[in-house]
Amino acid sequence: MSIGKKVSIIGAGNVGATVAYSLAMKGSCHEVVLRDRNVEIARGKALDMSQAANAARQHTIVTVAEDAACMANSDVVVITAGSPRKPGMSRDDLLMINAEITKEVVADVKKYAPEAVIIMVSNPLDVMTYVALKESGFPRERVLGMAGILDSARMAHFIHEKIGYGAGQIRASVMGGHGDDMVPLPKFSTIAGVPLSDILAEEEIIEIVERTKHGGAEIVGYLKTGSAYYAPAKSTAIMVEAILQDTKQIHPCAVLLDGEYGYHDVVSGVPMALGSNGAEKIFEMTLSRSQKEKFAHSIASVRGMINVLKDKNFFD
Ligand code: NAI
Ligand code: 2OP
Repeated sequence: MSIGKKVSIIGAGNVGATVAYSLAMKGSCHEVVLRDRNVEIARGKALDMSQAANAARQHTIVTVAEDAACMANSDVVVITAGSPRKPGMSRDDLLMINAEITKEVVADVKKYAPEAVIIMVSNPLDVMTYVALKESGFPRERVLGMAGILDSARMAHFIHEKIGYGAGQIRASVMGGHGDDMVPLPKFSTIAGVPLSDILAEEEIIEIVERTKHGGAEIVGYLKTGSAYYAPAKSTAIMVEAILQDTKQIHPCAVLLDGEYGYHDVVSGVPMALGSNGAEKIFEMTLSRSQKEKFAHSIASVRGMINVLKDKNFFD
């Protein structure tokens, strides 16, 4: 429980509202502020969730942001504003639409919550994190993206589906961008400490890796009108709670690389310790040649999208 802490969530759609609900049900903070361009919907959800918090005997109050100033003094601002993926749409199709939305909402964060840690969720995730960093002017430690916890959880689920044992004991590892070029790391994945490669055959591991890379699209295929939100929201709440409670827990999250793994001026998912200052330490793992190649591919794909924005003078 974090008394006195305030979290603002911009975008009270499926992911944003579910993050708010998750925080309220655990009493993870004192106040959650919901901001959405559809104020009526946000007002209704805030009221409903505050009543749920009372039913759960939690102290968290969920309020609506009537204007951007309501975000003042937020410790964390989660940004889920944007358009979700639709069937047949890649994350990259969302690039320009969500970049403009991110630019607009980050200007409000910069003005009203200049000390907050920003957690980006909107897609394409790594590029939106880069946009938030550039538009806010915040230090890189305070502009993070959520994806690695989600992608690792998906991989853990697929491992469990394959072996049928070890639920809750699977530690899967995914790094890189949150796109089809993400880098699942089966060699760094374990079940109760037992390496994955000692339990599954090579072909089975390859199957898990491929399914993880397309884990988001698989759910879009079922939902048809939107994308996943329970696991994305829980993964975001884990980041929020680690920051509010200053746990120093290590999670894979997106951040601007400044020399780590040999890259500069690009955002990617890497393991980091989360605390009240955001990313407090970034860890560099020793990668094999093949892992390095896959990571380079993922970096190139994110950089390509950043360059699309640069070519359109988006940052001028
Ligand atoms: P949604 O459509 O349910 O919610 C988006 C909300 O943003 C809507 O309520 C909309 O009114 C609001 N919004 C749009 N423009 C706004 C603005 N300028 N100011 C305030 N609010 C605004 O979508 P959902 O499912 O919640 O997904 C949100 C985003 O998160 C999408 O971009 C999606 O692709 C992304 N996502 C990312 C994941 C990740 O792993 N990083 C996982 C799941 C979703
Ligand atoms: C997901 O992976 C759409 O990025 C979103 O579910």
